[in-house]
Amino acid sequence: MAKYRIAWLPGDGIGIDVLEAAKIVLDKINLDAEYIHGDIGWEFWCKEGDAFPERTVKLLKNVDAALFGAITSKPVKAAQAELAPELQSKNLVYRSPIVRMRQMFDLYNCLRPCKAYPGNPLNFKEGINLVVFRENTEDLYSGVEFNPVPRELADLLTKISKPFAPFASLPLDQYAVSCKINTKSGSERIIRAAFDFARKFHRKKVTVVHKANVVRATDGLFFEAAKEVAGQYPEIKMDDANIDAMTMWLLKNPFQYDVLVAPNLYGDIISDLCAQMVGGLGFGCSGNIGIKLAVFEPTHGSAPKYAGQYKVNPIATILAVKMMLDWLGETTRGSRLEDAVAAVIKEGSVRTYDMGGNASTLDMAKAIADKF
Ligand code: IPM
Ligand code: MG
Repeated sequence: MAKYRIAWLPGDGIGIDVLEAAKIVLDKINLDAEYIHGDIGWEFWCKEGDAFPERTVKLLKNVDAALFGAITSKPVKAAQAELAPELQSKNLVYRSPIVRMRQMFDLYNCLRPCKAYPGNPLNFKEGINLVVFRENTEDLYSGVEFNPVPRELADLLTKISKPFAPFASLPLDQYAVSCKINTKSGSERIIRAAFDFARKFHRKKVTVVHKANVVRATDGLFFEAAKEVAGQYPEIKMDDANIDAMTMWLLKNPFQYDVLVAPNLYGDIISDLCAQMVGGLGFGCSGNIGIKLAVFEPTHGSAPKYAGQYKVNPIATILAVKMMLDWLGETTRGSRLEDAVAAVIKEGSVRTYDMGGNASTLDMAKAIADKF
């Protein structure tokens, strides 16, 4: 029996291309692992009315880690229109499988390292080395949303928000409510993860990203939790910034920052910005980390227009493999893989289209595997 059981979840679109690239690298690394395919993605929504079928949920209960490619998602009405005819009347609502997976398996820590590898022509500036910790299960991603708004909720909101209820006189389908729900324990654990990382890897500072001056209840709670947790890490500096200002300062002087921690939606936004500064879609990798399970993925989407063309840069996915190796405790292999990626980038003879070259997805994977 293999030492590790890894769920293999290509999804759809370029998810399939980049996972094929990941396999080339993993075969070279010779990890003692069994890779078990899981059905997930747009095809299963259309055919079965569920993009994340129960059998795949079951598989994830029984593995050490998972590697996930990408999944197409579409707005509610467009998704409904593509359902098989016999499912049309069932009132099914599409919800992003990765968001469901994060909540279902309590993968609360979304870890997104953003490092400018020397020689990458897409680097915004050389030397950037930021790590984003994004809360991954709560906040505006709670999934508690209403449109139309149920009568009892409308009545309650009108009653408790007087006199600031401009919606009170509107018909129930003329407004919508999405609940931003943040818990103290949920905030504390992601903030602790950021500080633990800073301590372990000798990082100097953790910056808490919020909007507590306006979103007082939820972001206020997050910021207060951060101040409390920071007290237990006296050797690490903590500062904070509003999400809007943060985007400007990050562009102005990324070297002022080190480790960032944020509630779910701000973390989503800031991690795209940080990824763009180190090369964009082809370089952003993420770990969705829980206690028992962790799911690793490139941060990019499924880019249907490039699907099957083996054109896109697989480095984001290969860096996600590196994160997976680290999480499994295979840190020597993890570091060697990162070195191989860095060497290929530095050498510059194999580059995908985003980097100005014409190497294919699989050429890039082979070049990296050769350096391992
Ligand atoms: C990400 C993505 C997802 C998110 C989408 C695909 C649901 O943007 O992983 O950052 O919003 O979390
Ligand atoms: Mg995102």
